[in-house]
Amino acid sequence: MEQKNILLCVTGGIAVYKAVALTSKLTQAGFNVKVMMTDAAREFVQPLSFQVMSKNDVFYDTFDEKDSRVIAHIDLADWADLIIVAPATANTLAKLAHGFADNMVTTTLLATQAPVWLAPAMNVHMYQHPAVLRNIEQLHRDGYRFIEPSEGYLACGYVGKGRLEEPEKITALVTAHFANQEQAKVLLVSGQASLLAQTIASYFAQAKQPLTVVNNEPLAVAHPLVEEVTTSVEEMTPYVLAWQNEHPTGIVISADVTEDIMLPFAIIVKNLDGAKRILARIQEGGQ
Ligand SMILES: Cc1cc2nc3c(=O)[nH]c(=O)nc-3n(C[C@H](O)[C@H](O)[C@H](O)COP(=O)(O)O)c2cc1C
Repeated sequence: MEQKNILLCVTGGIAVYKAVALTSKLTQAGFNVKVMMTDAAREFVQPLSFQVMSKNDVFYDTFDEKDSRVIAHIDLADWADLIIVAPATANTLAKLAHGFADNMVTTTLLATQAPVWLAPAMNVHMYQHPAVLRNIEQLHRDGYRFIEPSEGYLACGYVGKGRLEEPEKITALVTAHFANQEQAKVLLVSGQASLLAQTIASYFAQAKQPLTVVNNEPLAVAHPLVEEVTTSVEEMTPYVLAWQNEHPTGIVISADVTEDIMLPFAIIVKNLDGAKRILARIQEGGQ
């Protein structure tokens, strides 16, 4: 596999030390890693640690233009195949949710077209604050993927949800992302057991494309490649968000969903031709 470029944006949380380990793990896994830091992140760890681990320059000053042929933050935004913000502070999540571009990290995040994964880490009460939850919800809607914090002992002394996910786990997710292992994972959200949902499921099964279908009544498609999850309409959005978390490169398509189901990032399929086009893209290795 061609070497992939990962831009690791490090913001100022106590878990910055874990981002050093993450840089090392990603580099060892064969990725080309560049690190960008906020001023707050530099209060915790010197850029030198990241420079040594990544074997690349570390970036933190938007106005430090080392190469006169390019604008550094645009160049890095375009260079990255994937951007990971780890740890992602409450502050940076808030800025991103509102479109701020007041430092090199936030400016680069607005300029990139690469997928961006956010790995929040903070005190459990911060993580539960309505403003933080609102920003996270907005970022979900904007198409960001989250690496959820895990539960455990937090540096602030509390035990709860807020720990940055372990570097090994993040590295495994990144490796899976690029190995296309998850490329073929497709979730069809169908509010009801409609004829369209049934036709799509049968078509995918015939084309040997595994499919998970989430709906509120079973389809009449019994096929080993079609896994059905029956749930209430209210539970559908949380189910899809959890599925996305588990399958960061998975594809969510929706047919016949009601307004109660909020899936801003799902691909809406209106007929079988739409489903055929998606399948063709998957089989070409696109998406
Ligand atoms: C010791 C210490 C630990 C901190 N840990 C966190 C943290 O884990 N998560 C967080 O969101 N903010 C944390 N903060 C607060 C951030 O550093 C602060 O909000 C800062 O403005 C973040 O800036 P940035 O988002 O530009 O990096 C911590 C501050 C201190 C002094």
